[in-house]
Amino acid sequence: MRTEQPKMIYLKDYQAPDYLIDETHLTFELFEDHTLVHAQLVMRRNPTLSADLPPLVLDGQQLELLSVALDDRELSAADYQLDDSHLTLQPTAASFVIDSSVRIHPESNTALEGLYKSSGMFCTQCEAEGFRKITYYLDRPDVMSKFTTTLSAEQHSYPVLLSNGNPIASGSEEGGRHWATWEDPFMKPAYLFALVAGDLWCVEDQFTTMSQRAVTLRIYVEPENIDKVQHAMDSLKKSMKWDEEVYGREYDLDIFMIVAVNDFNMGAMENKGLNIFNSSCVLAKAETATDAAHQRVEAVVAHEYFHNWSGNRVTCRDWFQLSLKEGFTVFRDSEFSADMNSRTVKRIEDVAYLRTHQFAEDAGPMAHPVRPDAYMEISNFYTLTIYEKGSEVLRMIHTLLGAETFRKGSDLYFARHDGQAVTCDDFVQAMEDASGVDLTQFKRWYTQAGTPRLEASASYDAAANSYRLEFRQSCPATPGQAEKLPFVIPVELALLDAQGRELPLQLVGEEAPVGRSRVLQVTQAEQAFTFINLAEKPLPSLLRGFSAPVKLSFPYDRDQLMFLMQHDSDGFNRWEAGQQLSVQVLQELIGQYQRGEALVLDQRLVAALRSVLQDEQLDQAMVAEMLSLPGEAYLTEISEVADVDAIHAAREFARGELATALFDLLWQRYQANRELSRSTAYIAEFTHFARRSLQNIALSYLVLSGRPEVLAACLEQYEACDNMTERLTALAVLVNSPFESERATTLAAFAEHFKDNPLVMDQWFSVQAGSTLPGGLARVQALMQHPAFTLKNPNKVRALIGAFAGQNLVNFHAADGSGYRFLADQVISLNASNPQIASRQLSPLTRWRKYDDKRQALMKGELERILASGELSSDVYEVVSKSLA
Ligand code: TRP
Ligand code: ZN
Repeated sequence: MRTEQPKMIYLKDYQAPDYLIDETHLTFELFEDHTLVHAQLVMRRNPTLSADLPPLVLDGQQLELLSVALDDRELSAADYQLDDSHLTLQPTAASFVIDSSVRIHPESNTALEGLYKSSGMFCTQCEAEGFRKITYYLDRPDVMSKFTTTLSAEQHSYPVLLSNGNPIASGSEEGGRHWATWEDPFMKPAYLFALVAGDLWCVEDQFTTMSQRAVTLRIYVEPENIDKVQHAMDSLKKSMKWDEEVYGREYDLDIFMIVAVNDFNMGAMENKGLNIFNSSCVLAKAETATDAAHQRVEAVVAHEYFHNWSGNRVTCRDWFQLSLKEGFTVFRDSEFSADMNSRTVKRIEDVAYLRTHQFAEDAGPMAHPVRPDAYMEISNFYTLTIYEKGSEVLRMIHTLLGAETFRKGSDLYFARHDGQAVTCDDFVQAMEDASGVDLTQFKRWYTQAGTPRLEASASYDAAANSYRLEFRQSCPATPGQAEKLPFVIPVELALLDAQGRELPLQLVGEEAPVGRSRVLQVTQAEQAFTFINLAEKPLPSLLRGFSAPVKLSFPYDRDQLMFLMQHDSDGFNRWEAGQQLSVQVLQELIGQYQRGEALVLDQRLVAALRSVLQDEQLDQAMVAEMLSLPGEAYLTEISEVADVDAIHAAREFARGELATALFDLLWQRYQANRELSRSTAYIAEFTHFARRSLQNIALSYLVLSGRPEVLAACLEQYEACDNMTERLTALAVLVNSPFESERATTLAAFAEHFKDNPLVMDQWFSVQAGSTLPGGLARVQALMQHPAFTLKNPNKVRALIGAFAGQNLVNFHAADGSGYRFLADQVISLNASNPQIASRQLSPLTRWRKYDDKRQALMKGELERILASGELSSDVYEVVSKSLA
């Protein structure tokens, strides 16, 4: 908790560390009611600075200092200064050793930062600034050190003792305790430190690297979960292979470990050689985890593994550079997932997520550049902008340079900066040096916040056989940035003839056509491109594969969009055309609803989706994606003022009309796929994911008919399936259906069956939290009393409170403000126990500018109530105060 107003930290104030820590020797004595931490730091004056000896200021929070010595001389209170976040002392020589002992209390650490206990085991989370809650240290990523760690604990309860690097010694002590020493040969910043002690089982495997070194792989879980580890292990081996093949990156220690913990603030953490994961991102088997969960495990395992190079071997100089490792690593894991599954479907999922959530962040009070220049609390900057938009920025560099040159750039980056803590500028410099391309203007993507708008228009000159495309770019103001300079926007495009074929692309001034799909660079506020030798007026396919994270508009009419849906040779843009058509149709319905008119669905949408359903050639996952109407959150994001009720009513009306009009086709597709599911055993593989995704979206439409044969199918699927994807979908469909008694009995049966599996119970909470039937808040409040619910577990908070506020928009935005009041109450309570989670749950309230005056006032009122509620963490204070500014 803060004792004074948290202050802003600025990138421009960055200074190199006064002192370095060459070696860090840690000893942990773990007990039930406290832990003792001894740290020996072998230090020296930073040789790049002057020869004087400024005071040494070590970071430390919530530590009980027991003793501190400088070069073996025990210091007395007069020799140092202590406040609630620093220990300051005066070195007397350029090289020296600090020995400190502190007492800490992992057993009562509810913030899940530093050393804490989860389900009886000890574990750590040090990124970004958690290490200072373990011992006095220079807790900043540009101080890299060689770590040796000894931990001791009672043997019976904590048979497994782990830390980073390689195990070098172990033994038993009197009184039933034992110890182990680990040594990490690689220099690393403190945020990559990890320790685990617990009663864990592991699955072991091996990977032979490209230079034929054998690496031991271990995944540690609580004993009851040992049957849910194989998918993560398979994913790990695939990731290791992929990073060798695609990036030339080899693993560097003899052992790589993953530990699953139940209480974790985020998805997972890339600690050197000892990744610690939220159990939701490790555990997966058919009966208990959905296809989406399987894919998430594969992606997160890859993400953390890839950090070994993009983050660990080359790390960040300061936390303003966070996207250096996160944007790059998300780009790497998304390409990995694309290669393992379907590239087009992965791109669709990523873009839908980015446009719904990151674009909303970019338009709100917390908007910040990919490389921010100020923050109050760094934990608040693990954002969609740093991760997802950061990944898009890397993707654009990849697009501009081409895969081969991009690889040269990444090779140069890793070779040049191995073992260093560097900046986003260093990364871009390596890309420039490897390619000879000047990325000066491109770097505005790192420094300017906000989502650029790109307006395109076209004219065809039949006499000259030429086609002129005009672009106009702009970017809305964001906090602290009123005016923006033009971005470099890569626009991949093709021009299609009346049969949908790609025409040769020849710009004025070019001697011959250059391909049929190519990347133009829009670099000015207004810019035109003229294509020649076109005998007919083409239809453009723009921003293919979503080649830049912008809001593109082009005046397509609905017939043109239907044409693109069927004929565009870019799979992403086929989907995109369908989305744009749906948006137009839904916005028309929203208008009708607001004017009190009868809703009338444009039958072209029905026709378009009918032909999608009839297309047997189209990948089933693509059919499923195209059948998914834009979500309510996305429709909110693209509205000037979002009318929650109108959006919900319009979308539900469209779904109902589509279900009626397409019933027979949906029913055929459903039955064919359900039959395949019945006759083939589950495998976590893309063709199966695709088949089930179509089956399940079909079922969610069919149930809208209210027909008894659909209810019967739903119950059959629920009862007879062999996997969680089909079971949970059947449950979710029932929960949102009018079949009240079946809903209640199935929910009860599900909870009874899975009451001992917390991850499955999370799904059960989420499905109900997301139900848009009236009375949502009361249901959520009742569920908070369920024995499986606890505010102490972040997964539970996300499953129930997060799902309600983030996905159940009609109920959360109830006109009486009850949803807002509920969320504020939860934030106030979480602020005291877990500030990071409290702050993350706040974000729906920060979007108040999107709503009508009455809702705005209610939302702001709740933000003000939080602000006045007492002592706020820096996490919550920063978000609330910026939202009200
Ligand atoms: N570096 C982690 C990742 O993206 C993120 C992370 C894990 C994190 N746990 C955290 C960030 C706790 C802040 C706080 O892979
Ligand atoms: Zn990461």
